[in-house]
Amino acid sequence: MAPIPKGGTVAVTGSAGFIGSWVVRLLLDKGYRVRACVRDESDGKKTDFLREMPAYSTGRLTLHSANLDDEGCFDDIFQGCHGVAHVSHVSDYNDQEYVEKVCRHIIASVNKSESVTRVVVTSSIAAVISEVDIKELLRRPVLYEDRYPDESNPKRTPERGQGYSMGKVIAQRAFSDAAAEAGTWDAITCCPADNVGPIQSAHQKNFGPWQHNIEMMLLGEYFQNGAYRPWMTVDVRDDAECHIRLLESVKVQNGERYIAWSCDTPKVEEICASIDRLLPELGHDTPEVTDNFPERVQAREDELRAIWDQCELRNDRIRDTTGVEFRPFDDSLRDCVESLISVAGVKPQLRDGFKLPS
Ligand SMILES: NC(=O)c1ccc[n+]([C@@H]2O[C@H](COP(=O)([O-])OP(=O)(O)OC[C@H]3O[C@@H](n4cnc5c(N)ncnc54)[C@H](OP(=O)(O)O)[C@@H]3O)[C@@H](O)[C@H]2O)c1
Repeated sequence: MAPIPKGGTVAVTGSAGFIGSWVVRLLLDKGYRVRACVRDESDGKKTDFLREMPAYSTGRLTLHSANLDDEGCFDDIFQGCHGVAHVSHVSDYNDQEYVEKVCRHIIASVNKSESVTRVVVTSSIAAVISEVDIKELLRRPVLYEDRYPDESNPKRTPERGQGYSMGKVIAQRAFSDAAAEAGTWDAITCCPADNVGPIQSAHQKNFGPWQHNIEMMLLGEYFQNGAYRPWMTVDVRDDAECHIRLLESVKVQNGERYIAWSCDTPKVEEICASIDRLLPELGHDTPEVTDNFPERVQAREDELRAIWDQCELRNDRIRDTTGVEFRPFDDSLRDCVESLISVAGVKPQLRDGFKLPS
């Protein structure tokens, strides 16, 4: 319908989170006014770092408590906003009725605002690649925006671990349909990959899986994950930039979705070893990667790795539309490690003769 104007006002849900907080910071850097939505503004452990952003001191950044489970929770916050970045998680992806209900809460507040012209909804690459039958990846190996998981597979149920990817597809469609019906705003979906990069507050190390996995590598414990799927990465700062450029774009259309990833596919064992390669001064004691998968999964290791190896990741659409440039994974890993140590106080396992500076 309309991009947000430069310097306009944007509400960001999930602002205390890893991705949401980078959307907040980069919007402020670009001169926007930001309403940071968090679940509980008074929870200092999660929100003090937002108050420490310089724009808070002038009121260009404001904080707002809102639990998206409560109907009408964004009514006041969205009034006067030009755009919404709906980044937050929901409380339960396995209950589809609940996911639809929460979407309705946010959509109703957007409609009531009479000012919002664009909503960017954060989805996930799970809504692109997550298959019940992994062999579907052999039939459709090109991973791009128009690829959806095989929705006709009767085994695609929350009980089989598909709740998250299903919930994300439900949300994308709910927002696009509501925007088409309203005719006053549009909904664009951003599907981020595995976010790696610097955390901004200590609590963030415990949430997104990837920074937690890197924390475990630093602590000397590491194991295979994702049934031998390589990480499919995006730097959290580039992901945030994608969200903002989709809010600003004059090219996007309601209902479109864009994948935010660099197309790097580092393997678990390479990532763990890379910490010492990138930061030799640290003296990280690279642990052995262990394999905790059940025997039946271990027996399929070669087959599963080969399936992922033949997948082709594409990001031409978001690069063409937004001009965003993705950082290499090495930069994301280095900056994540440094933030885990400096922001969250993680004490890495070091080789003899090394110690952290005091
Ligand atoms: N991290 C990744 O690699 C990745 C990859 C693909 C997609 N995504 C998507 O990106 C989004 C953000 O992920 P993230 O890694 O930044 O997660 P995160 O650090 O856990 O942040 C998510 C935020 O969601 C908020 N939230 C959860 N339930 C809520 C509720 N009922 N009401 C209000 N707020 C609620 C939490 O708010 P409080 O902290 O204030 O409680 C939290 O800060 C999610 O939609 C996720 O599915 C993430």
